[in-house]
Amino acid sequence: MDLIIKNGTVVTASEMFRADVGVEQGKIAVIAERIGGEAGRVIDAAGKYVLPGGVDVHTHLELPVGDLVSADGYYSGTRAAVCGGVTTVFDYPTQTKGKGIVETVAERRAMAETVACCDYAFHCAITDLGAGDALLDEFQAAADYGITSFKCYMVYDIMVNDGVLLKILEKTRDTGCLTTIHAENRDVLEARIASFVSAGKTDPWHHYMSRPEFVEAEAVKRGIHWAVAVNAPLYIVHLACKEGLYAVAEARTQGHPIYAETCPQYLEFTSEVYKRELGRNFVCSPAIKGPESRDALWQGIRRGVIDAVATDHCPFAQAEKDRGIHDFRKIPNGCAGIENRYPYMLSAANTGRISFSKAVEVCAEKPAALFGCTSKGSITVGKDADIVLYDPAKDFEITLKNMHSNCDHTIWEGIRLKGYPTATFLRGEPVYENGTYKGAPGMGRYIKRGASGLN
Ligand code: URP
Ligand code: ZN
Ligand code: ZN
Repeated sequence: MDLIIKNGTVVTASEMFRADVGVEQGKIAVIAERIGGEAGRVIDAAGKYVLPGGVDVHTHLELPVGDLVSADGYYSGTRAAVCGGVTTVFDYPTQTKGKGIVETVAERRAMAETVACCDYAFHCAITDLGAGDALLDEFQAAADYGITSFKCYMVYDIMVNDGVLLKILEKTRDTGCLTTIHAENRDVLEARIASFVSAGKTDPWHHYMSRPEFVEAEAVKRGIHWAVAVNAPLYIVHLACKEGLYAVAEARTQGHPIYAETCPQYLEFTSEVYKRELGRNFVCSPAIKGPESRDALWQGIRRGVIDAVATDHCPFAQAEKDRGIHDFRKIPNGCAGIENRYPYMLSAANTGRISFSKAVEVCAEKPAALFGCTSKGSITVGKDADIVLYDPAKDFEITLKNMHSNCDHTIWEGIRLKGYPTATFLRGEPVYENGTYKGAPGMGRYIKRGASGLN
């Protein structure tokens, strides 16, 4: 055996039990009450929880936005990930006019290959189907390459209209893939932005006011409507509003394969953050909503309506956020979270808000299954030995100097967590121990995904 983790409490999405875990050649080889014999390394995990490495299915590393690029690239972003117990990240390359899906993703894969500190997979955001919708013919080849999920933005300049969304839903249904949507109503939010700007209301609060709950809710319902119409599975990314959550729950009750993700920023904060002195730092889209939505999202997690908690990690440097001090339209959208999500959700478990199994379910097991990542997401014999040791007694205060991102600020500054990861193993190799990154760039591998496991 290469590694034996002894005396810990194993947490899966369905149970917690005391066991030893043995690792051989990067895989979980044995889970048993006692594992004897020789091992390259033996760790006593008494008092600690043994968790699967986190799977963050929504990040934007090195994302170009106008003349800016998001602050974390494939090195610093994945380094921060492993220091927060995450061993797999999914990035979102954006296909542009005239470009193929595999070509788009292959470019990003090459950027990640020599620097990634954890394993990585890609969705692909589709922006243009090309003449005669030729790009649809590439979906099967993309699936063969391991790209089995596609994002449609319903906003921004890269949005697709409902006709294109419908075609993508049909194609993903036929190829065993999954469509994901960023749901907001662009017409309405642009009209509201124009009104606020002409009235001189350009502070960060009006970022929220221009795209409040009902702007997101309509698009969520519209996306579900089209998915149901063509009997296609649909995954709503970064769901942030109560009414949208209820629409997901209703569709699910009727037996439709509609899935939802939310993010920690929508669970911790409310729209009041936009009134803070540094309100611009919280600008992301969808905007952070009111307390009713925040509370409903927690209920959605507890009741199993939310399938995944991901980060939408997309931070920008302070000076870049500052561009919009007096004009919210100039604030680059996105916040950091890649290192904070898993500890935050585990702290919610440790303080009784959800169970540890639920935290593992939404942060690792279910997103891995949904997105065809069969070797990840669970402490199970045969899976990759992506393992986190978690000390429930360790108090932790998030502060920039303890983080491993390249960004020069964090919206999580000062948030106190009960319990914290003390070690992360990527395929059996230590990559993080007690506050320090221990891996090497390039250790991460590309994950060729299969079809969605929950369709
Ligand atoms: O504000 C955000 N979420 N920025 C990243 C791009 C997106 O919309 O997911
Ligand atoms: Zn989005
Ligand atoms: Zn995003």
